[in-house]
Amino acid sequence: MEFHLVDGGEGDGGHATPDGTRLEDLAPEPLLTRDYETRPELVYERLRERHGPVAPVDLLGVPAWLVLGYRESLQILQDDAAWPKGLENWRARSEGRVPADWPLGPSLEVNHVLIQGGPGYRSLRGAWDMALRPFQDPRNPQAKQLRAAVTGYADELITLLAQGGRTGVADLSAQFSRPLPLMAASHLLGFPGSQGDDALMDMWRVLDAGPDAEPALERLLVTLTELAAAKTEKPGDDFPSHLLAAHPDLSVDALARELFMLLGMVSDHVGILISNTVVEVIAGESDGGVRTALSAGMIRETMNRVVMRKPPLVNFVPRFAAEDSPLGNHTIRAGDPVWVSAAAAHADPLFATRTTSGADVSTRAHLSWGAGPRQCPARELASSIASAGVRRVFERFGHLELALPVDQLPWRSSPFMRGLRSLPVRYELVGPVPQLAPPSVPDVPDASHASDALDAPAVADRQSARRRSSLWRYLTGLIRSNT
Ligand code: HEM
Repeated sequence: MEFHLVDGGEGDGGHATPDGTRLEDLAPEPLLTRDYETRPELVYERLRERHGPVAPVDLLGVPAWLVLGYRESLQILQDDAAWPKGLENWRARSEGRVPADWPLGPSLEVNHVLIQGGPGYRSLRGAWDMALRPFQDPRNPQAKQLRAAVTGYADELITLLAQGGRTGVADLSAQFSRPLPLMAASHLLGFPGSQGDDALMDMWRVLDAGPDAEPALERLLVTLTELAAAKTEKPGDDFPSHLLAAHPDLSVDALARELFMLLGMVSDHVGILISNTVVEVIAGESDGGVRTALSAGMIRETMNRVVMRKPPLVNFVPRFAAEDSPLGNHTIRAGDPVWVSAAAAHADPLFATRTTSGADVSTRAHLSWGAGPRQCPARELASSIASAGVRRVFERFGHLELALPVDQLPWRSSPFMRGLRSLPVRYELVGPVPQLAPPSVPDVPDASHASDALDAPAVADRQSARRRSSLWRYLTGLIRSNT
């Protein structure tokens, strides 16, 4: 085996590293340790010091390259031909070296737009862009209707949690930030009645990966397949129907997989974004600038900073070297998996020092929405749902403070995401606690914004169904009485 010394330049840790060693011979250290859960920035820093901008890591028994450098991450994200997605490009997998029971297998072996490479990808991505458009362009009735619905859901959730008292303690994650995007997803998916809410609870169980995750996933896939079949049979004005219109060849199963992907992205990532933004505002982590920004109505700008500082998607799903390619201090062999780490790239001095000094790198250069041709197509949608929710929180709570010091908030991590496990707050509602409106009376306050789009009896019907749903029962169980 040939070794040669690599010059230690800026950002590569300055260590001589054997180059030319195959990934599988490097015996990399496990990434997903307790430190990764509690202090990921230290883990990334250690890896950067030891290996430079690209480090070999062990992902639950499977070796991979973790890309820590900002420049190297961009290089990969911007060149889809040199670094394609698609598990069929993974040499170790084709050679049978990825165990059948690898814990990350189930999240990666689902063939949907986020994971897929190959010839079918381009048309599928094009269809996603088209299907999202009605909901993303704020001038469209579907976008206005979605925003009004989200504002209404936010009010329902706040009113429900405040049934414990006008002042009190709540877990704003479980009682607001997580259910809100789930409800928005149900709206986007065009679920009839409370069937959506039951599926949402199952999505929640899947994301939490607890003991009931597996049956929940099975139920969820059945429900989404039924939904896909129903929309194929009788299209509506919802995301599945728009996706089908843009890609009529999608089979019911393929459509169901795309819906699963949407549900996961909306529910987990948007929920994380809402919680992180609320913390940023109330804990004043942003040198006081955020409150000013909020009062100036600049929630979106705040969110951009939040998403940059705490990317919900910390590490991206794998891409594969199309051919042997030098990267950082290593040669990545054709078919080796590379995981771009947005969280680590943002801590790369090349990026971090330039954004904090406000100098020549715009904060918009961050990677939290990805970069290049496979950048997130739903950025506007996600930001719009999150900002509608955050706005309502600060309109309805006159006072909101963390019930724990900010550095003691509990986090949950997976190889892909990082978000708050819970968000305990002390709140004071503006005005008296509203009664939960009887199901026959629509209580979506902002429906007036889209009065032509939201039909009151339909809203009342949906709310009535919701009150009987498992999501609602669960949320009711979380109300803390403060009397
Ligand atoms: C805060 C919320 C969100 C964040 C931070 C986020 C972030 C990202 C990132 C970083 C990527 C690129 C991944 C990569 O390059 O491997 C991505 C891709 C993607 N996102 Fe999002 N996303 C969010 C919400 C959503 C939502 C709500 C949807 C769907 C409605 C969505 C749909 C997608 C899709 C379809 C892709 C794959 C694009 C492709 O490969 O061409 N995202 N997202």
